[in-house]
Amino acid sequence: MIPVETTFLMIKPDGVQRGLIGKVISRIEEKGLRPVAMKMLWIDEETASEHYAEHKGKNFYEPLIEYITSGPVVTMALKGDSAISIVRKLVGDTDPKEAPPGTIRGDFGIEISRNIVHAADSEKSAKRELDIFFDEEHFQDYSRVEEEWIYE
Ligand code: CMP
Repeated sequence: MIPVETTFLMIKPDGVQRGLIGKVISRIEEKGLRPVAMKMLWIDEETASEHYAEHKGKNFYEPLIEYITSGPVVTMALKGDSAISIVRKLVGDTDPKEAPPGTIRGDFGIEISRNIVHAADSEKSAKRELDIFFDEEHFQDYSRVEEEWIYE
């Protein structure tokens, strides 16, 4: 059975400031994944610390919170077969220096602390992160006409 998953992706403040919203969304759409929820917001400190709770205490935690709350972000839910691992591959390694060309971070970034996007790394984190940013009514139930040409 095809494992249809919904994952979480955020275009971070540097991605928004650098005018990369359209390019990031294009790559998702062109791959064949379906955006099912989308929201632009300016994250407050409380939400930032909830989202990045696993990094609390690490040496990059304080600058990370400052960065993620420094400007608006675009959050989205993406649905499709194996969406979680596909989006991680499209995004590339956390450190843009290591991310191969062809990936979002590999093509657009240099520093790990300015890596343009965040993507959930597992089913558990996808659910947790989607719950932080979206309520049930934000999700749209539809299919794209081209899906019959993407899936057999
Ligand atoms: P992200 O995928 O959002 O998850 C945690 C973020 O912390 C990461 O992307 C980077 O933006 C940021 N970060 C900054 N320094 C580091 C580091 N040394 N290791 C991992 N993540 C870092």
